[in-house]
Amino acid sequence: MANQSSNVSLQFPTHRPRRSRLHDWSRKLVQETDLSPRNFIYPVFVQEGSNKKDAVASMPGVFRVSLDHLLNIAKECVEQGIPVLALFPVIEAPLKSLDGAEAYNPNGLVPRVVKALKEHFPDLGIMTDVALDPYTSHGQDGVIDDDGYVLNEITSEILVKQALVQAAAGVDIVAPSDMMDGRIGKIRQALESNGFIHTQIMAYSAKYASAFYGPFRDAVGSAKNLGKSNKKTYQMSFTNSDEALREVALDISEGADMVMVKPGMPYLDILSRVKSEFSYPTFVYQVSGEYAMLKAASANGWLNHDQVMIESLMAFRRAGADGILTYFAIDAAKLLNQSK
Ligand code: PBG
Repeated sequence: MANQSSNVSLQFPTHRPRRSRLHDWSRKLVQETDLSPRNFIYPVFVQEGSNKKDAVASMPGVFRVSLDHLLNIAKECVEQGIPVLALFPVIEAPLKSLDGAEAYNPNGLVPRVVKALKEHFPDLGIMTDVALDPYTSHGQDGVIDDDGYVLNEITSEILVKQALVQAAAGVDIVAPSDMMDGRIGKIRQALESNGFIHTQIMAYSAKYASAFYGPFRDAVGSAKNLGKSNKKTYQMSFTNSDEALREVALDISEGADMVMVKPGMPYLDILSRVKSEFSYPTFVYQVSGEYAMLKAASANGWLNHDQVMIESLMAFRRAGADGILTYFAIDAAKLLNQSK
């Protein structure tokens, strides 16, 4: 006993991890992960008309805007160093149909908005969603049969037309979010054979059937059309992880330039596995419900808004995300640029 207490060296830890945490400069020195506005993709909801800016109740700070307002948002993205803006259309009810044919109208809202954005901001990347849910009267991402089952091949053919119309309008990235089997390959082939060899594909590869999409469906107005039905026959089950790797492998083999995991915060394990398995450009979508949670809690004074915003975004980077689709993009970019 006496012997042990006289051996003073045993009373001190060999390593003091706290040493590097003592000073701000040394915390910076050992920082492993960075977050920059260049990592963000900003999702925006666009509607027909002019001077329209309608709040989305469940997403404070997010609006359904007409093109004139959208141009101001695009300008802010450029000023803040956000490389890409992702468009989600709000389609008027009379234009919705069983087969969502408005999705490939070359004079539709999305192609017109893409052209205007590229004209004003040629250096801002523009991404468009490839899926039929804003355009279908039933709110599903594709064409349904009598049982409400989304038909894979018929839907994929329409998605190909939609992607071609978007590419012809000048979009930089098409992003199929529909989860049909084989659609990445079909879209890639169609883009190539129509001369759109530079159009990038960001595949929503591991997209889960998630209740966290609720506020988004309010925003684009598909929630009431969808009613009590769900998307479980094509979006993945949140019980599964290996399956996400198979989905990603398929999309890469079919010609995706980038893959995505969605939602984000509850799926960091999936993001981490995808990045370490494939070392491929990997993106994550911090979806509407995640944004709503953080906004609601901080509005109540229960969480510190800016701190949880940055912490959640940094966590995506740490888990392996090259980039993040987030409704916080502009706020976070401003904060990061100020503190530079
Ligand atoms: C539509 C689509 C959805 C989202 C992006 N594209 C909703 C859905 O699949 O029902 C969700 C985004 C969000 O919640 O922020 N295919």
